[in-house]
Amino acid sequence: MINLKGKRVLLVGGAGFIGHHLAISLKKRGVEVEIMDSLQVNNLCAFQNSAMDIPNRDRYVGILNERLELLRRAGIPVHVQDARDYHGLSQLVAKFKPNALIHLAAISHAGKSNKDPYSTFDHNLRTLENALDACRDTVEHFIFFSSSMVYGNFPNGFASEDTPCNPIGIYGALKFAGEKMVIAYNQVFNLPYTIVRPSALYGERCVSRRVGQIFIESAMDGLEINVNGKGSDGLDFTYVEDLVGGVVNVLENEKSKNEIFNLTFGQSRSLTEMIGILSENFPDVKVNYLPKDVLMPDRGTLDISKARRLIGYNPKNPLEKGYLRYINWYKESMANPDWSFGGKITKHAFVPTGT
Ligand SMILES: NC(=O)c1ccc[n+]([C@@H]2O[C@H](COP(=O)([O-])OP(=O)(O)OC[C@H]3O[C@@H](n4cnc5c(N)ncnc54)[C@H](O)[C@@H]3O)[C@@H](O)[C@H]2O)c1
Repeated sequence: MINLKGKRVLLVGGAGFIGHHLAISLKKRGVEVEIMDSLQVNNLCAFQNSAMDIPNRDRYVGILNERLELLRRAGIPVHVQDARDYHGLSQLVAKFKPNALIHLAAISHAGKSNKDPYSTFDHNLRTLENALDACRDTVEHFIFFSSSMVYGNFPNGFASEDTPCNPIGIYGALKFAGEKMVIAYNQVFNLPYTIVRPSALYGERCVSRRVGQIFIESAMDGLEINVNGKGSDGLDFTYVEDLVGGVVNVLENEKSKNEIFNLTFGQSRSLTEMIGILSENFPDVKVNYLPKDVLMPDRGTLDISKARRLIGYNPKNPLEKGYLRYINWYKESMANPDWSFGGKITKHAFVPTGT
């Protein structure tokens, strides 16, 4: 086991949903964490763009400020810097000298990627190549956030790391290309890597408007819930705390190096099951069924036995537990802005630390 205390870890795209949870968890374990994030994609600067019509803007700006405040209180520097700029990224790597770099920066949404392939290429692949190149001679471990979308349609609703990858659409194709780049840097420069393939994350302070979040917000706002398809589609919904635990396992274990891992809860659940948990908290909720998005692959369960066996991955939150925690956070946070500091912080300008 690698002792993480005192290790330096740089999170590129670390002020996002997954990144800020991961950064805070690593910091609690004694890791020296720093973040590089432009705050421009699915983050504060994008939501503050008053030229765009953004649903629930005030709510999301409050949540995003809360993230940054949590990072500030944890003593984690956020370098507000675009990772498409090679020099900015390589200067930070040279200065901070991370033992490990975790690459999360992306347009992290399949629907948005299909609408804007040009930007997705830049944010997903350009940033990745910059990070790989900046790390190639000095960093001990490069961790790339890929996605279960690399598989495309899951054969018989099931995918292990050995399942052939046939991505559908821009997002999955670029993630798959990213995986190949990471492996190529290992072949050419001997840069040790781990590729993680998460799926269908949910949890506190997400603003990505994926199903779990939109369902709760619609229920809280007294709106109908829109479901694409018949509700029978299964996704391997994963509570963010479980994924964070998996990435800690990756960092702690030499056996994670030069491997690919599915990191999900490991059980597909239908949208109808998710709505069932929601209706226990919002009994009046009404569901509206819409046509299915043809570019969304048929997915299902990811096999997580490799991660369990090699690195001791042990997710603990089935939907009944994790989604309930998320619902309760949302209810408390929105009903009582003083409890959440979202309401308070929006009164102050965010002052970034670092360069
Ligand atoms: N959330 C999920 O369900 C899920 C599932 C599978 C894979 N992933 C992958 O995990 C990673 C993190 O996802 P997330 O949900 O936290 O997404 P997110 O959108 O919340 O965070 C992404 C962060 O990257 C930053 N970023 C984007 N382009 C940048 C650039 N050019 N320079 C600097 N920063 C930049 C954004 O500002 C944002 O803070 C992504 O790579 C995503 O594709 C997420």
